[in-house]
Amino acid sequence: MEQIRRTKIAELLKVTETGQLANVKGWVRTKRGNKQVNFIALNDGSCIHNLQIVVDVPNFDEAELKRITTGAAISIVGEVCESSGSGQKVEIHAKEIEILGDCDADKYPLQPKKHSLEFLREIAHLRFRTNTFGAIARVRHAMIFAVHEFFTQKGFLNIHTPIVTASDAEGAGEMFKVTTLDLDNPPKTEEGEIDFKEDFFGKATNLTVSGQLEGELAALALGEIYTFGPTFRAENSNTSRHLAEFWMIEPEMAFYDLDDNMDLAEEFLKYLIKYALDNCMDDLKFLSQRLQDEEKNKKADERTMELIEKLQFVIANDFVRLPYSDAIDLLINSKHNKKGKFKYPIDGFGSDLQSEHERFLVEKHFKKPVILTDYPADIKAFYMKQNDDGRTVRAMDVLFPQIGEIIGGSQREEDYEKLERRMKEMDVPAEEMWWYLDTRRFGSVQHSGFGLGFERLMLFVTGMGNIRDVIPFPRAPKTAEF
Ligand code: 4AD
Ligand code: MG
Repeated sequence: MEQIRRTKIAELLKVTETGQLANVKGWVRTKRGNKQVNFIALNDGSCIHNLQIVVDVPNFDEAELKRITTGAAISIVGEVCESSGSGQKVEIHAKEIEILGDCDADKYPLQPKKHSLEFLREIAHLRFRTNTFGAIARVRHAMIFAVHEFFTQKGFLNIHTPIVTASDAEGAGEMFKVTTLDLDNPPKTEEGEIDFKEDFFGKATNLTVSGQLEGELAALALGEIYTFGPTFRAENSNTSRHLAEFWMIEPEMAFYDLDDNMDLAEEFLKYLIKYALDNCMDDLKFLSQRLQDEEKNKKADERTMELIEKLQFVIANDFVRLPYSDAIDLLINSKHNKKGKFKYPIDGFGSDLQSEHERFLVEKHFKKPVILTDYPADIKAFYMKQNDDGRTVRAMDVLFPQIGEIIGGSQREEDYEKLERRMKEMDVPAEEMWWYLDTRRFGSVQHSGFGLGFERLMLFVTGMGNIRDVIPFPRAPKTAEF
């Protein structure tokens, strides 16, 4: 085969001059044609578009051409030509074809037809090869990059916080244990309990649910930091919004109060969405069409706003900011509630909002993103700053259409006594978290932070309906294949 440097399809589709030779490599999506000419749609993952390869059948070995089936990996050297039929400016007229990897067409699960997302979840090792999952992977990468760009431009430092930890940051007790003890025969204390002193770390450890506590330590020296790491929750929530392993971005900022925190959260989300619009338009257009096809049998009022329009809408409008207690009043007095349309009743101040309530506020009432603040202390974590009313804390949840909660955060309690008292009240082991409390003894200042669930962001930006489809290899109850 002629030695020419490989060009990626995304690059090739941008060229304007023709007549030169090019080499492309990729996987065959489809092959069609007749005894004279074959058309191969080739994809190499660099963009949503396939490159059309035109093959003059008589110039090639018949047996060789037979091996070019859907899924096969091939390398082509050919002339870049102007294309009339393929919907693209250029196509390749093959001069040399090399088969890099055969694909047993009869056994290949990805036939060139529409497959259900459920089925594709069962073949997650191959689903990257579909248009949908290729698009999602590219958008996901763009969002990762935009997160780092946003914070770098603002002078935040990225901090790696531990994945194995001995503390439960959210105090919800939903942790996966990490141990090297023999589960059949663990060492026991005199009281008959498992003796974690004998364990690898000399104490009971788990996978982290959040990098926040360590993030706070860094912020209280470095000013503004963010973490971006995997987090793990052993909550048995088999929903389309929950994963057992998900990625979270957690900025933490010294000297910020709750208003500063909300400003940052809103600016951050808008930046990410604008980045997607500016850099991922081809993939977004595809994903928009996918969603419209999926919803075409729904009634008009049940369909979601067109994806790109929805993203532009969020950038263009201020988020509503509302205290939790006002939201409760609003929900109780809503027609929706009076007609008994909520599955979970709202009892008044103190009830935790279900996603149906959050989505009612965002989708039906305000019709834009909402930030709820000042939640009851009893339904929020121990570290949130206590308000003077003695019953609420300086919490904030950012609620998005179709998603519900996309960000959770708060101003932090910086007062040593108040924090220690709250930890005791909530059974958070203050002695073991001496290092966290220490920051409130040595130069404590007002500070705030939040956590953005990266896959929830991905749901919003891609318009996908199930969180298991926006992470390559989902971890959820009874789901850990691949
Ligand atoms: O509201 P959460 O539990 O807040 C924290 O973990 C804080 N430590 C964040 C902080 O203040 N630094 O989680 C934050 C976000 C949620 O708003 C949601 O987007 C996402 O993480 N999230 C999940 N995403 C997928 N699967 C799950 N099981 C999730 N649980 C939370
Ligand atoms: Mg939350």
